[in-house]
Amino acid sequence: MEKIIKFIKDTFNTNEFIPLHEPRFIGNEKKYLNDCIDSTFVSSVGAYVDRFEKDFAEYVGSKYAVATVNGTSALHIALLLVGVEQDDEVITQPLTFIATCNAISYQKAHPVFIDVDGDTMGLSPTALLAFLNKYAEKRDGVCVNKSTGRIIRACVPMHTFGHPCRVDEIQAICEEWGIFLIEDSAESLGSFYKGKHTGRFGKLGAFSFNGNKVVTSGGGGVIVTDDEVLAKRAKHLTTTAKVPHPYEFVHNEIGYNYRMPNLNAALLVAQLEQLDRFLENKRQLAGIYKTFFANIENISFVNEPNDAQSNYWLQAVLLENKEQRDLYLKETNDNGVMTRPVWRLMNELDMFKHCFAENIENAKFLEKRLVNIPSSVRL
Ligand SMILES: Cc1ncc(COP(=O)(O)O)c(C=O)c1O
Repeated sequence: MEKIIKFIKDTFNTNEFIPLHEPRFIGNEKKYLNDCIDSTFVSSVGAYVDRFEKDFAEYVGSKYAVATVNGTSALHIALLLVGVEQDDEVITQPLTFIATCNAISYQKAHPVFIDVDGDTMGLSPTALLAFLNKYAEKRDGVCVNKSTGRIIRACVPMHTFGHPCRVDEIQAICEEWGIFLIEDSAESLGSFYKGKHTGRFGKLGAFSFNGNKVVTSGGGGVIVTDDEVLAKRAKHLTTTAKVPHPYEFVHNEIGYNYRMPNLNAALLVAQLEQLDRFLENKRQLAGIYKTFFANIENISFVNEPNDAQSNYWLQAVLLENKEQRDLYLKETNDNGVMTRPVWRLMNELDMFKHCFAENIENAKFLEKRLVNIPSSVRL
């Protein structure tokens, strides 16, 4: 254990506390923030929001991008846009951050938990298909769960720690079964699957720019889509559903104040300029960890899956069992090296205990063994 702690400290070239993931502001952040303040447009209207949306769409290769106040609101609006409503079911994975399930719950829909793949840690297309073959049928083009009578409206896979799941297979299954695919790409900016950016396989994708992400706006999110109608509705709904008018206040439906402030967008535009540099640095760190852990018994480094180019947002290792994991967590944290276990499985939380969660062996296995290790860009 001592050897591991020393190695991580040497890698980050410090004897001070090493956080899990620190942001880096080493580009035009201050310049753009000052410019934003000088313009007085610091709030929900401003040139940086428009510039960010254009830059982001270009980077991921989508036709449209709509900036939001955080990733959770991006997910919420994406679900609303494909028609998820009260008593619908939404398929997702038990191994995810709470925000995925919160967004589903905001629409008063029910999460259905399907297992992840052991290698990608994201939703398993094999498990998804097995579930649908056993429990679902298509009625007039709509997928219905025969055991509950509810409509299975959407499927939300998540790219865990930035490692892409087998999203092309998931996309094909969703299409066949009449289910809308929305990717929770909160963690996967800069991650590609079979050459295509994550978040672009389904109808809509949602990203987060929370302070711990690859690039940050302090708080922020974005919805991406190739569908012009959905993009326009996303913009309308996230900006209080105000009908454009030079001075009148007319709102034509219940909307949300989910727009990203210009101040946050200014920070993000500067961060996005450095994304490629950050990604290269994170990949380099993954290589260093991989080589080191190859010679450590009972711990394995989590590599990017086949066919994927991962952003290596949070680097991770797998321990032998829960006891070893707990020991590893304690020793590292006690010695100034921040490490964290993966999230509790969603179906174990009080709010989602009643939800469907059969055959989730991979998720259970990973939950007991996965640990995130320091992953900041070293620049
Ligand atoms: C998987 C996942 N989904 C959704 C979110 C929500 O993003 P935010 O914190 O920006 O609301 C996050 C990150 O925080 C996340 O990791």
